[in-house]
Amino acid sequence: METEIVSIQEEHMDEKALRRAGEILRNGGLVAFPTETVYGLGGDALNPDSARKIYAAKGRPSDNPLIVHICRFEDIYKITSYVPKEAEDLAKAFWPGPMTMILPKSDRVPKETTGGLDTVAVRMPSHKTALQMISYAGGYVAAPSANISGKPSPTTAKYVWEDMQGKVDMIIDGGPSGVGLESTIVDLTVSPPQILRPGYVTEEMLARVLGKVEWDRASFLPDSRQAPRAPGMKYRHYAPEGELTIVQGRAEEVLAYINAHTASDGQQGHKTGVIATCETVSRYEAAIVKSVGSRTDQEAIARHLYEILREFDEEKVTRIYSESFQSEGFGQAIMNRLLKAAGHKVIRLSREDGVE
Ligand code: TXA
Ligand code: MG
Repeated sequence: METEIVSIQEEHMDEKALRRAGEILRNGGLVAFPTETVYGLGGDALNPDSARKIYAAKGRPSDNPLIVHICRFEDIYKITSYVPKEAEDLAKAFWPGPMTMILPKSDRVPKETTGGLDTVAVRMPSHKTALQMISYAGGYVAAPSANISGKPSPTTAKYVWEDMQGKVDMIIDGGPSGVGLESTIVDLTVSPPQILRPGYVTEEMLARVLGKVEWDRASFLPDSRQAPRAPGMKYRHYAPEGELTIVQGRAEEVLAYINAHTASDGQQGHKTGVIATCETVSRYEAAIVKSVGSRTDQEAIARHLYEILREFDEEKVTRIYSESFQSEGFGQAIMNRLLKAAGHKVIRLSREDGVE
């Protein structure tokens, strides 16, 4: 299949190209498109064949359900069988935006889209190009992140192209993603509601609207015996090809540890990399050192993390060390993704009270 790539700026939307994207989707084709979180791999959410094509293009297990993207709040009532007041309140507070809600599905949504579940994940993104494309597509676009299963979600069209060329009809290049990490997922089919995946919309923000919100522990603890409620959380995700280790502790200790280890790894023939911050980047001695931004700027860290993991793959780095980041607020999402990328390999140099 030939993949067409079109560049569309959010501020000057190319209506003709977006209409064409909508037509491709309505005819059962696939279009990768920008959202404010990460790029999505879109297909018609109400067409079981489109869902099958998405799973094939990603190389993703078909029991891992897709998020249905809508462009008007009212459309939620067509694809769900029950919308509790909490869902309406959350939508009012955070839509359009980086939050996904799990609700009981209606008969219109095929099981292929929901990975066989009776529930459906719904999100209204804030990216204008995405909203317009969804509208031209008929209103319901199923879209996982546009990466090959197991790779970091793409935050630029370059990485979408690398993973999806020849497998999708069109890629819309909208520039780098603003948030950089996938949406927060909240399950409203349980009481109190549960967070299945942390994201830009934090626990505190959700609690302000919901009163009480819990975590699906199985989605976060590496050794949980229970199945996570978001099937996707059980797969090893976001993994770079090199071995990634997170090092926690006081800044000086972390620097000394990482420099000692990259030196000995280098002697053993490894190509070494470090995920550093603006504050520390000049003090590492590894072969490749990259800064995710300032330690105090969580939004910058989130925006750059996946790109850096992808770059280390391109540069064939075999041993990667990362500093650890604050885990409050949006930091919960950052550390969740970093821990997953590292397969939970963490070196703790200080006692808990010494950890930043
Ligand atoms: O920000 C995002 O959410 C991006 C952009 C493209 O919108 N999409 C995204 O989709 O991250 P994906 O497929 O990579 O992740 C969807 C997650 C998976 O972990 C999946 O298991 C979970 O959502 N999920 C989807 N439907 C579900 C359902 N009915 N019940 C529980 N979890 C569900
Ligand atoms: Mg994904």
